[in-house]
Amino acid sequence: MAHYAVPDTHRPFAHPSEDEFARILNFYGVQWLYEPRSFPLRWDGARVVEMFTPDYYLPDLDLYIELTTLKQSLVTEKNRKLRHLREQYPEINIKLLYRRDYHRLLAKYGFGPLVQADVPDVERVLFTKPRIERRVAELGRTISNDYAGEQLVILGVLRGVFCFMADLMRQITLPLSVDFMSVSYYTGDGDEGGVRITKGPDIDIAGRHVLLVEDIVDTGMTLNYLLRYLRELNPASLSVCALLDKRVRRLASVNLNYTGFEVPDEFLVGYGLDYLERYRNMPFIGILRPTEPPQPKSDGEKQSPK
Ligand code: IMP
Ligand code: MG
Repeated sequence: MAHYAVPDTHRPFAHPSEDEFARILNFYGVQWLYEPRSFPLRWDGARVVEMFTPDYYLPDLDLYIELTTLKQSLVTEKNRKLRHLREQYPEINIKLLYRRDYHRLLAKYGFGPLVQADVPDVERVLFTKPRIERRVAELGRTISNDYAGEQLVILGVLRGVFCFMADLMRQITLPLSVDFMSVSYYTGDGDEGGVRITKGPDIDIAGRHVLLVEDIVDTGMTLNYLLRYLRELNPASLSVCALLDKRVRRLASVNLNYTGFEVPDEFLVGYGLDYLERYRNMPFIGILRPTEPPQPKSDGEKQSPK
């Protein structure tokens, strides 16, 4: 997969966060272009007096991304421009990532300012054990009906999925095989070899009906990569079952055939899900709310007229 490689000696970015974001995209094999297009927003006669230039365009995902490290309360101006952009160019998809979104993205990969900040314990229970059990039983029934008469390979993505997978498979009343795969994730510590399958399926899935099982789909970048990989192995069919769908954070739009719950933009732990390897053993799913890191004095974001 071709990336738009950035020569080390000349990175085009005006702000280090943009650089880090590009590394994350590179890691997941998502192509990007930096500031490829400016959108005129306001004219004075024939002269353009206001433009907006989104930071990135991701051609595979047909998505523009604007990354702002300004504090949420300071982005009013940017929001206004974005509103105008959406009004005048309704055909384009654009997503604004705030400073908070960006910090959460880094924290999810295990680094960045939130990781150093105090993490209070579980703030609130989102899904109790009985609620999870009921929903997993429903999913099992639906899947059993949809695949009636077939044999299934259920393929879990380690490690967070093991609780869900163990419960789900016992609610499916079809002959099935169980397998797992593992995928490397972004760590930001210089390993830029890109995302890798660290353990592939052991079962030959060619010609088989495969149900890929995930604990949670967040940006969708992991799943996007896994689906591309698995399609090459020529399964008879390939569907996805995710216990949790954090849809508001999606960057890569991936189709989820079965979803347990749609969840808010919070960091979730328990029932297999971890934060830095902790909390997996809680029998319920809870919300962690790390405190926001302090705002640095000078933000360093470029002030170009865009
Ligand atoms: P994606 O590539 O951004 O969709 O990330 C998917 C992976 O990130 C999941 O399989 C989880 O391992 C992890 N993840 C995303 N959100 C959470 C969360 O709220 N709690 C724990 N792990 C998460
Ligand atoms: Mg996972």
